[in-house]
Amino acid sequence: MATMNLLNRVGAKLATPLLPNAYAELINPLWGEGVRAKVVAIEPEGPQAVSLTLKPNHRWQGARAGQHVRLGVDIKGVRHQRCYSLTSADSTLSQRITLTVQRHPHGLVSQYINHGLRVGDVVHVAPAQGEFVLPANDEPLLLITGGSGITPVMGFLRQLAEQGWQAPILHWHFAPNAEVSLFKTERQALAKAQGWQLHEAYPEQGDEGFSAAKLDELFPQWRNAHVYVCGPAGLANAVVALHEEEGRGPLVQEFFQPPAIAATGEGGEVTFTRANKTVQAPATTNLLEAAEAAGLTPEHGCRMGICYGCLTTLESGQVRDHAADEIIDTEGALVRICVCTAEGNAALAL
Ligand code: FES
Repeated sequence: MATMNLLNRVGAKLATPLLPNAYAELINPLWGEGVRAKVVAIEPEGPQAVSLTLKPNHRWQGARAGQHVRLGVDIKGVRHQRCYSLTSADSTLSQRITLTVQRHPHGLVSQYINHGLRVGDVVHVAPAQGEFVLPANDEPLLLITGGSGITPVMGFLRQLAEQGWQAPILHWHFAPNAEVSLFKTERQALAKAQGWQLHEAYPEQGDEGFSAAKLDELFPQWRNAHVYVCGPAGLANAVVALHEEEGRGPLVQEFFQPPAIAATGEGGEVTFTRANKTVQAPATTNLLEAAEAAGLTPEHGCRMGICYGCLTTLESGQVRDHAADEIIDTEGALVRICVCTAEGNAALAL
């Protein structure tokens, strides 16, 4: 069967001229262009998610715990890319990496990864990015996470255990219930073995939510700690607000939802010059959605302004960047179309 597959791939491609990488890819999909990785394990992570273990090819440059990657999967011949946090500790060249994908009811890619991806498949992985990383020296850490915002912090916890972090840690995690609380058993075991504080809360079941009083009770030294937060906007905003008032250490936030697009902009007429299409884009529709609605398939990853996988050149006019909260009107500027809306008429190199 494997031989037939190889022959089929070769036969299908021989009719067209190929670049050297494409020939290599026929023999082994891992040898194609860019970083590729073989899926070496797929394991359920609670009832709504799976964890993937990937073995990247020789082009992988490594990653730090807490960073994210753009993962590309081919579904019915079309490449789809999404951004996922790594859940593995720091990795160097050729080391295996892990990530966890929660299933969304209408998520094409998350459904495919949960139900269609198989061990042995090859996926595309962009270089790791992100500033959500641990400090260089051991210092008290306050880690606050909610829902699947746990994923980058899971990478932290594995890294902290590996290097034997010497300073106090409180990890306060919020989840709807114990059943869907990701990595619960491993997190409990790590906290016990390493002497960290782990506080797990299920507010929907009556547990206390985030508050300054509760934080003081759990971790009185939090004001001098390095604070990390990743979770739903309500939780993240509460932590950031309290930290701005009272925190003395640094705060690092990982965004895990797209910025809210307020209907404060104007919207306008947007021309996608390469496709030669002009559409009316309302103030509440980001330019990635506007392009997709017009039948275009722009490259993208996270759809929330963090991976820069959707950068497109602004040829004229102006757009509103909702993540940076600014108007961009410089001809030739690169804009993240997933978090930008039209601000009057604009032309994009798409
Ligand atoms: S798709 Fe990631 S920044 Fe736009």
